[in-house]
This record gives sequence, C-alpha cells and structure tokens, in this order.
Amino acid sequence: MGASGTLLTMLMCKAMNRSLANVLFAGVGAGPVAAAATARGGPAKAVREISAEDAGVLLSNIRSLIIIPGYGMAVAQAQHVCRELADMLSKVGVDVKYAVHPVAGRMPGHMNVLLAEANVPYEQLFDLEQINPEFERCDVALVVGANDVVNPAARYDKASPIYGMPILDADKAQHIIIIKRSMKPGFAGIDNELYYNPKTMMFFGDAKGALQKLVESLKAAAA
Ligand code: TAP
Repeated sequence: MGASGTLLTMLMCKAMNRSLANVLFAGVGAGPVAAAATARGGPAKAVREISAEDAGVLLSNIRSLIIIPGYGMAVAQAQHVCRELADMLSKVGVDVKYAVHPVAGRMPGHMNVLLAEANVPYEQLFDLEQINPEFERCDVALVVGANDVVNPAARYDKASPIYGMPILDADKAQHIIIIKRSMKPGFAGIDNELYYNPKTMMFFGDAKGALQKLVESLKAAAA
C-alpha cells in the first residue's frame, strides 16, 4: 500500500510537471493571493454571476456538457447530486461527460474515487488527453469546486507556481459555469483568469447546495 502510494505520488508530480516538495508545500504561504482573495468584497476585476434559475434555463437548452470536478466537490460531498443533475440531462439527450484531471483534489485518484462513490457510469469519465479536444465543441463546461486544474496561466505564465502543468481546457467551451463559494484561490494560492473570461458565469455557493438548486431549477424549467 505504502509503496504504491509513493509511486502514485511520483506519477502525479510528473503529471503536474512539479517537484514533490513543490506539490506538497507550494500552497503554504504562497504569494500573490490578496487581490483575488478580497475580490468578492473588494476592488478586483468584475465577474459575471448567474442565478440558479438562469443556469437551469441554460442547461435545459444545451446538447453537450462537460463536468469538471475538483477539490471543492469532495469538500462539499456534492458527487451524488452532481450525478443526479447529470442523469437528468442525459435522459433528455444531453451528451454528458466528466473531465478528470490527474491532480484534481488532494490525493491521487481523488476524483475517480469520489465519482465512483456516486456510481457515475465509467463511460462518462474521460482523462485530460481524451477530453481536451472536446471542449471547443462543448456547449457548457461546468466547473464544480475546481480551480488550479482549469487555470489558463499554467500555459504561459512562467512566474506562476502552476506553470507547465497540463490543464483542462474549460476556457475553450462555448459557456463556462463555475460553482465555488467565493473568489478565493485554490491550493496554489493564485488568482484564476478563467473567472474573468467573458464566457464565464460564476455560480457562488457550496457545491452541494448549488447543484441541488440547479436540479430544482432544471425541474422547474422542464415543467
Ligand atoms: P483547488 O485548485 O485547490 O481549488 C479548489 C476550489 O474549491 C477552491 O478554489 C475553493 O473555492 C473551492 N471549494 C472549496 N470548498 C468548496 C465547497 N464546499 N463548495 C464549492 N467549492 C468549494 O482544486 P483543484 O482544481 O482540484 O486542484 C487541485 C490542487 O491541489 C492543484 O493545485 C494540485 O496540484 C494540488 N494537489 C493535488 C494533489 C493530488 S495528488 N491530487 C496533492 C497535493 C496537492 P472557494 O473557497 O471559493 O469555495
């Protein structure tokens, strides 16, 4: 068990293009967080918010959805209601896929374990290389408590602690809905430009509660 854990951790470091020390300690005391951390109540860049009702209307008019789970889904234990939402959409013909980033969450395989707990069909799970070409054809990317794994700065910002880490290309979807509680950063302690993308709509709230509201509003939109 211990040896396989070590091996997995080393594989994760390789996937993140980061050293073990960087993975374990990069978030501790990291630098440029203040602007992002105060953004919801402070002077930072504007973001667009979306209500549960409007998100429900949007989701009831799409053909494809990619769900991106992250650490916040695990914290909120939102996997079951997420599956409920996905099932509702699948039943009306929406192509639903889950994008699983190798280091989403806080331990190797975290998202796989979480989604398996909710019995998410295996055929709906896609890893990073498989799913990335799909985003530009996707109507909505629904980011549930993920942050660093969808941060475009990883592609080009050499000063960023996540520079070089492959990310999920959520920014290439037609629309992006992000569920999280605030503008606070994730593990790496950095702001995320995806939040300010004109295609992005922030749905603030605890992931479980927010998804429950989405389920209700989808039901209302279908009635
Ligand atoms: P993070 O970048 O850590 O972001 C998680 C986000 O979830 C936060 O921004 C937080 O925003 C939100 N959140 C927390 N509780 C929530 C809740 N109850 N409801 C809704 N949202 C909630 O997560 P990620 O995108 O999964 O990336 C993982 C990070 O951890 C990477 O930087 C990775 O390198 C690192 N890491 C991974 C591992 C492994 S092996 N998986 C090991 C060590 C480190 P709010 O506070 O605003 O809600």
